[in-house]
Amino acid sequence: MTDHLRPVGIIGTGSYAPPRVLTNFDLEKMVDTSDEWIRTRTGIVERRIAEPDVATSDLGLAAARAALESAGMEAADLDLIVVATVTPDMFFPCTAAIVQQALGAHGAPAFDILVGCTGFVYGLAAVGALIASGTYERALVIGAETLSKITDWEDRSSCVLFGDASGAVVLAPVAEGHGILSYSLGNDGTNADALRIPAGGSRMPASEDTVAKRLHYLSMNGPEVFKFAVRAMAESSEQAVKRAGISMGDIDLFVPHQANLRIIDAAAKRLNIPYERFVRNLDRYGNTSAASIPLALDEAVREGRVHPGDHLLFSSFGAGLSWGTMVLRW
Ligand code: ACO
Repeated sequence: MTDHLRPVGIIGTGSYAPPRVLTNFDLEKMVDTSDEWIRTRTGIVERRIAEPDVATSDLGLAAARAALESAGMEAADLDLIVVATVTPDMFFPCTAAIVQQALGAHGAPAFDILVGCTGFVYGLAAVGALIASGTYERALVIGAETLSKITDWEDRSSCVLFGDASGAVVLAPVAEGHGILSYSLGNDGTNADALRIPAGGSRMPASEDTVAKRLHYLSMNGPEVFKFAVRAMAESSEQAVKRAGISMGDIDLFVPHQANLRIIDAAAKRLNIPYERFVRNLDRYGNTSAASIPLALDEAVREGRVHPGDHLLFSSFGAGLSWGTMVLRW
């Protein structure tokens, strides 16, 4: 970070996943797929699914409460709340406003970030800069998704991939030499159509026709996203590590977006990083988009895999097509 800015880091983490489990065997009964295909092509074994009356803000609230508890803070101590999501409760008000009300963090500004799976890393970068500059002191950055609500359960090429969950962190000023060291964010709109929900926005408002054509569900060109993901993760990781003034070998823990084990494998091979340094929990949750990194981070913290002074790297990719990598010192 620039010299006149304060160091900013994560002082608390939390996560939540709804209790209902959907296994690959359950999916075999819903679409023409097999446990073997899903495991070998993605590494996913099961995922969590929110009940019909549960919305993204409900999941986000649970993760937020856990993060506040781990930071030893009250909601009233917060002066900013940001939610990264592609599955907001509704177009507006923003999901962060709904979480703010439920938490009782009255008066704190609240806004959403809509950058697909990369949204959480974008949120950390944006909020980190606002705290580093002295504008705010303590903020919640939440990644929360109910992807099951935008998944086409008749499309076997995508429905096997996604799940519902949330994760949250508290960002605040930290000791010199710790916290966010660097990041590499970017977007390449040439392939924006590879990952999207075509209808329901101002380009194609909801109509009987859009509903009949199933245009309100997530649509994805899987192989195109796959190729992009490996390249984006590897290149942005190299750039962020270089900007932090350290080497790839100094990274103690990689927390990659949990989309596909083969993407993580390919990135690890390209970066020449031992596999054990990667956090992997997508076998139990699938791809939870913006919730994926804070959920994996919180599990790693609670399992005792993160120590003071460790270098961590978060790396994500998603709709846009976007990418975001961040290097931090715990
Ligand atoms: N079960 C059985 N067969 C399947 C399934 C399934 N669930 N899905 C696809 N197939 C078939 C295809 O029809 C195809 O058959 P064909 O050869 O007869 O045509 C064959 O399997 C291979 O299909 P591919 O799409 O080439 O399979 P691939 O190895 O690329 O794996 C996958 C597909 C898993 C989707 C992979 O491309 C991938 O992970 N891509 C990245 C996805 C991703 O990370 N998306 C991020 C989105 S996050 C967000 O923003 C919410």
